[in-house]
Parts: sequence; C-alpha cells; structure tokens
Amino acid sequence: MKTGQNSINPGITKPNIINQGKIIVVAISGASGSIYGVRLIKALIETGCRVLIILSHAGQKVLAHEMGYDPKASFCLFLEQYGVDLDSNIAPEIFLQDEIASASASGSFVHHGMAVAPCSMKTLSAVASGYADNLLTRSCDVSLKEKRPLVLVPRETPFGLIHLENMSRAAMAGAVILPPIPSFYTFPQTIEALVDTVVARIMDHLGMVHDLGTRWKS
Ligand SMILES: Cc1cc2nc3c(=O)[nH]c(=O)nc-3n(C[C@H](O)[C@H](O)[C@H](O)COP(=O)(O)O)c2cc1C
Repeated sequence: MKTGQNSINPGITKPNIINQGKIIVVAISGASGSIYGVRLIKALIETGCRVLIILSHAGQKVLAHEMGYDPKASFCLFLEQYGVDLDSNIAPEIFLQDEIASASASGSFVHHGMAVAPCSMKTLSAVASGYADNLLTRSCDVSLKEKRPLVLVPRETPFGLIHLENMSRAAMAGAVILPPIPSFYTFPQTIEALVDTVVARIMDHLGMVHDLGTRWKS
C-alpha cells in the first residue's frame, strides 16, 4: 500500500489510496476562497480519487487574484506548484465552463458526488433555479436530478434574503449547503489547517475517507 503525508500532521503517514475507484467533480466558481476548492482537490487526489475539475471564468480570475494562478498556464502545473502530488496519483481532468459537452454534463456519466467550493451567489442562484447554462451549473443540475451528493460551499457575507432563499431552494432539491465556516476546537495554527476544518466536512458529505485533522471525542 502506498503511503502519503498527513497534511496537518506531517510526521504521520497514511494510506493514500483509500478512495481509489471514486470519481468526484469539483467546481471552483468566482467567490472568494479559491483555497477551499484547491485544498479539497488536493485531499481528493491524494487519497486516490479520480477528480474532474470545472473552473468558471470568474473562478479563474479569483484563483489568479488570491492564489497566483496563471489562467494561461496549465491548472495541473498550478496544483503541482501548490504541492499536490500528481507523480504518484491520478492526474485530474480540467474543464472550463464552456465545455458543455464534457462527461459530467450527462447523467449517464456516473460519479460519486460533486462539490462547488467556493460557490458564488450567482452560481447558487443558477443551481436553485435550474439555470444550466454552462458546464458547472449543468453538472450541478445533473447531480441533483440523478440524486448524487451535491455539496455547495456558498461564500458571501452577509447573506441577503435572495441568497438565503436560494440556499433553501437548493437544499430542498437535495444539495448540502456547507458554508465555509471553520471550526476552532482543534486549534488550527495555519490558514491551511483552518481551511481543512471545512474541507474535512466536505469530504464527509461526499462520503470520502480522509484524515484531515482530529474528530471531536473520537
Ligand atoms: C476577487 C473577487 C472576489 C469575489 N468574491 C465573491 C464572493 O465571495 N461571493 C460571490 O458571490 N461573488 C464574489 N465575486 C463576484 C463573482 O465572481 C461574480 O458574481 C461572478 O459573476 C460569478 O460567476 P460564476 O458563478 O460563474 O463563477 C467576487 C469577484 C471577485 C473578482
């Protein structure tokens, strides 16, 4: 069994193929908090998942602003520079929002769940109303109709009534609304560790095994 480093406890090794055979779609939309999507992708890839990544145009812009991503360069290269181990894991497949004919746009492509992290209010609105005008929103729509896990990580503050109503609507349709509200009871010492308190919950709701930090009283 291959081993990898635990990102929170670097001294501890863990199996990195625990989610082998799982296929997860991760979308990064144009809300602040690109790091949530990037760390989720890292956790999925490094536990053996096949990951399909969808970047919205605005998502690329925020990634560039917040994390130094170069939209003209390969996103895989960016992930490697960020420290994602692509040498000993399955390389992710990258799609832009215009690639509407891609696999996840069809219900006949079976995957094990999708997350939008971060999820902008615009994308939330599209999901809540079934406005499937690009690969990202279409893939969300398909996940809902196929009853596959869909985790939305909506980022805005404060939330207005329209945002709240859209979250309620998406939740009633089957989405998990998982706002990026970190926890502090494990005493995270870095931004990455703080972000991973949220990523751990996303992994839980996608049904993926992980070892991101400790669990309360376990
Ligand atoms: C730096 C930056 C940060 C942004 N942060 C947010 C945010 O936190 N939440 C949000 O809903 N929109 C945010 N926006 C606006 C969205 O990018 C914009 O509404 C866009 O149309 C969303 O498109 P998408 O959902 O297709 O990615 C931000 C834009 C920029 C440039």
